[in-house]
Amino acid sequence: MNKDAPALVVEDATAGIGPLTILDGVSLELGSREVVAVLGANGAGKTTLLRTIAGLLPPRRGSIRLFGEPIEGRPAHEITRAGIGHVPSGRELFPRLSVADHLELGGRLSSPARRVELRQRMLEMFPALGQRLGQRAGTLSGGEQQMLAIARALMTDPRVLLLDEPSTGLAPKIVLSVFQTFPLLRKQGVSILLAEQSLTLGLSAADRAYVMDQGRIVLSGNAAALAEDHRVVDTYLGR
Ligand SMILES: Nc1ncnc2c1ncn2[C@@H]1O[C@H](COP(=O)(O)OP(=O)(O)OP(=O)(O)O)[C@@H](O)[C@H]1O
Ligand SMILES: [Mg+2]
Repeated sequence: MNKDAPALVVEDATAGIGPLTILDGVSLELGSREVVAVLGANGAGKTTLLRTIAGLLPPRRGSIRLFGEPIEGRPAHEITRAGIGHVPSGRELFPRLSVADHLELGGRLSSPARRVELRQRMLEMFPALGQRLGQRAGTLSGGEQQMLAIARALMTDPRVLLLDEPSTGLAPKIVLSVFQTFPLLRKQGVSILLAEQSLTLGLSAADRAYVMDQGRIVLSGNAAALAEDHRVVDTYLGR
């Protein structure tokens, strides 16, 4: 690992399913301890991009580097071990498994001592989960389920966290409480790539953002500058 390299560099990544090209030459960069949003309307390719980085979909072309180390084409569990945590779209929890079970699943790649440390950190960060360790995930509120999905990913001890639309189905106040964990994560050395359909939410949480349309990056810049840029909205409206 090269500590001076950006946390994540994606260069010209192309990926698809069967004959279908979904990601079409995507390049982006995530600095160490940065929060970067990937914005785009429904179907733009955000989830596919995050899945490709996480190793769930092999890129056909292009490179992906984590602190300078090439990871593209490796199996997902190796990419997790290398330091990328993935909070999938729709959370993908196991409804009948308990909160504690999910934390355990997330921590199984870490040493026993580290696992205890990470678990302690999760319970401090998400006290609501601590009060519900024995409860089945399916019976948690939407906000608690999202916290659990994030905690499970953090139990893998990632340097980069890929967050796929954590706001889906949550009340604004709850979304805010999810986003409020970002400064703490940053302090702990975690860099965040956040996929988000909502421009307002994405730009409020990020330092910088990329806008995707039809599998490509069409705009990028500082969050504050993009918030003023009418081309962002035009992209969403297909103009
Ligand atoms: N398994 C699949 N088979 C066929 N097409 C797919 C598959 N997964 C995604 N696609 C297509 O790829 C494109 C990008 O989808 P993707 O889910 O990455 O978009 P997204 O930006 O995450 O959208 P959303 O905001 O709705 O989550 C869409 O046109 C979608 O229909
Ligand atoms: Mg998606």
